[in-house]
Amino acid sequence: MTGTSGMLGSAVVQCTPASLQVIPFTRADADLTEWSAVERAVAELSPQTIIHCAAYADVDGCTTDPQRAWANNADATRLIAEACRENDVRLVYVSTDYVFSGTKCDPYTPEDEPDPINVYGESKLVGEQAVAECLEDYLIVRTQWLYGPGGRHFVEAVIRRARSGQLLRVVCDEMGSPTYVCDLAEALWLAAVSELTGVVHVTNSGFCSRLELAREALDLAGMSSMQIEPIRSDQWPSPTRRPLHAILNNSRWIQAGYPSLRPWQQALADFIGSYLLA
Ligand SMILES: NC(=O)c1ccc[n+]([C@@H]2O[C@H](COP(=O)([O-])OP(=O)(O)OC[C@H]3O[C@@H](n4cnc5c(N)ncnc54)[C@H](OP(=O)(O)O)[C@@H]3O)[C@@H](O)[C@H]2O)c1
Repeated sequence: MTGTSGMLGSAVVQCTPASLQVIPFTRADADLTEWSAVERAVAELSPQTIIHCAAYADVDGCTTDPQRAWANNADATRLIAEACRENDVRLVYVSTDYVFSGTKCDPYTPEDEPDPINVYGESKLVGEQAVAECLEDYLIVRTQWLYGPGGRHFVEAVIRRARSGQLLRVVCDEMGSPTYVCDLAEALWLAAVSELTGVVHVTNSGFCSRLELAREALDLAGMSSMQIEPIRSDQWPSPTRRPLHAILNNSRWIQAGYPSLRPWQQALADFIGSYLLA
């Protein structure tokens, strides 16, 4: 498994099924942009499957440092895919709604043509293409709006800001499905041992705006009285254009017989109760 010191990767390690063994892999074990390190690790460890969670996932960072984005998201993923091909290893690659522009009214299906609008989305898409070119036994799992223990993410930022009494200005025109890494981690283990190939979309059920997510998080954290100033995405200071409506249709995953992830409100309540209020 790659990226195991990251937010999603550490959740995947935490919920390893008893019947399976995980080999956690961080940057300290190998820099995934170096072919010799990747090739040696995959050949020596000889895993059945690699769950590839490592990425440069800082969206604004990718915009300001595109070289780092291409190296870590596109080039490193190609190296891993090539090493998987050489060693006959299945690859589960975690990707993102950012491969889409977010201009479609309906939720995106895996068959929809990607059309990224920023460097992060472009570099993740090229990573996807490398996986599909190199391998037959692969699954690309696109997901969205992750949050969970230990990570820096939107939910944590809203609660932290509210606790420090700072004004909250939150975007009201960006829609998505907030997804709890612990729920996604369980799905990734199912994906790892499945025979499903190609692309699937996996998020918690339902969707909302950033503003609705912030409101729900504050209510659950006992800060209902906290005011939020709604703003449009073009009023938020950011170097990056973001997809406004890149909701992901999960039906391929569900039709393949896998459980749909619980509604986002239930998962958020679980996270806030277990970690932010604990
Ligand atoms: N966060 C979201 O909302 C979101 C949404 C959709 C999809 N995703 C995808 O989900 C996956 C996990 O995201 P996350 O939020 O958990 O990210 P994260 O917390 O930033 O973790 C990413 C991990 O990848 C490691 N990494 C990056 N480049 C590496 C390299 N060259 N060699 C070795 N390790 C490297 C990082 O190590 P260092 O800390 O040492 O750099 C970090 O531990 C990514 O593929 C991301 O694209 C995320």
